[in-house]
Amino acid sequence: MARKIINVALNGVTGRMGYRQHLVRSLLAIREQGGIPLDDGPVSEGAVSEGTVLYPEPILVGRSEERLRAIAERHGLSRWTTSLDEVLGDPDVDVYFDTQVTSARESALARAIAAGKHVYTEKPVAGSAAAAFALAEAARAEGITHGVVQDKLFLPGVIKLRRLIREGFFGRVLSVRLEFGYWVFEGEGVPAQRPSWNYRAEDGGGIVLDMFPHWQYLLEDLFGPVSAVYARHATHLPKRWDEAGEPYEVTADDAAYAVLEFASGVVASVNSSWAVRVNRRELLELQVDGTDGSAVAGLRNCAFQHKVSTPLPVWNPDLPDPLDYPAMWTDVPDNMAIDNGFKAQWELFLRDAARGRPFAWDLFAGARGVQLAEFAIRSSQEGRRVEVPVPASAPPATTVPPNTVPSSTVPSTTGAGA
Ligand SMILES: NC(=O)c1ccc[n+]([C@@H]2O[C@H](COP(=O)([O-])OP(=O)(O)OC[C@H]3O[C@@H](n4cnc5c(N)ncnc54)[C@H](O)[C@@H]3O)[C@@H](O)[C@H]2O)c1
Repeated sequence: MARKIINVALNGVTGRMGYRQHLVRSLLAIREQGGIPLDDGPVSEGAVSEGTVLYPEPILVGRSEERLRAIAERHGLSRWTTSLDEVLGDPDVDVYFDTQVTSARESALARAIAAGKHVYTEKPVAGSAAAAFALAEAARAEGITHGVVQDKLFLPGVIKLRRLIREGFFGRVLSVRLEFGYWVFEGEGVPAQRPSWNYRAEDGGGIVLDMFPHWQYLLEDLFGPVSAVYARHATHLPKRWDEAGEPYEVTADDAAYAVLEFASGVVASVNSSWAVRVNRRELLELQVDGTDGSAVAGLRNCAFQHKVSTPLPVWNPDLPDPLDYPAMWTDVPDNMAIDNGFKAQWELFLRDAARGRPFAWDLFAGARGVQLAEFAIRSSQEGRRVEVPVPASAPPATTVPPNTVPSSTVPSTTGAGA
């Protein structure tokens, strides 16, 4: 069995996402499992390839040599640098990955593309749709493999929901309610659990730019293309305290209330907030109501209620309601092992990059996410519904192939995600 090394420069690896999700739970986990079997040989039972195995070699890139060295030593890695030019100029570096603060991304991606590296990136791809589409065009012209992280597609709860859709459980889907959010502490007394740049527009912060790219690919995958958006964004908390305990003025939105329309006729109400207290099972919940049944999917769970088990509610505030509504839903069982979504997507990307072939979730897909965020902001600013162009060759709903659900499980215990 031949081992092929693929050198991956990780920029922003000292950050929440860069360290926990992309380095530790993805690339290092892939190394621990022995690499990624390439599809150039027979794969026997237990995913042992008799062909080539792809083995990622991370190169840590960032601003602080001390912090990079500490991470490298902790994980037995040999290479780190504070010079992006150095890695981009090195012909042995195959892939550039960007998980920096959003405002630093566009220029770094442009340089990596010009250097001919395969590029993979966190979302949002850029701060504006024009810049994101320009990056995608440049990547296409360069003939590289390019991709964007779309981790929510791989959540266990979403995989279960997708199965219900594929099985025709819902009949005709009528509507969707997406509830996302939790209380992000202001940082005075209790430290904030998100970085302060998230609340500064000038640094690429704001919940619309952060979350609408996720909603675009997630909802399009499940329900087809979005055709219109009405949104109202808000800054509920105007003052927060940063990592050093210093107060700062919030210049970005921390909540958004939107209605999305789909070409299929489905309507979704989508609430996103970092100023809401959780009264749900999970931090993200997606309720789908159809003619034949309904379901509520979260990060891990997916509960459903079929029309034959739908109770008969009667409005009567004079008496206690005899129905225990939450108890009338059934959880889809955990009958398959589901790997960490970031890792699953890394495996797919590295396979395609090693082959030099296109990746399903490319920079054009990422740019469409930024575009929806931009339309939502425009809708809010102008106080009107904005139509969203439906691509001529709109991808069909539920494009995630079943083989993107690998067979091992990496438990996800601490945060780092939305
Ligand atoms: N896919 C997801 O679920 C998900 C979740 C959270 C964040 N993200 C995205 O990942 C990226 C990183 O987010 P994070 O939460 O890890 O942020 P973070 O603040 O924890 O990390 C940011 C990283 O960027 C580096 N950086 C480079 N230039 C910087 C600058 N001028 N100021 C501050 N930091 C700078 C930092 O050193 C650090 O390594 C963002 O683009 C964000 O949108 C994605």
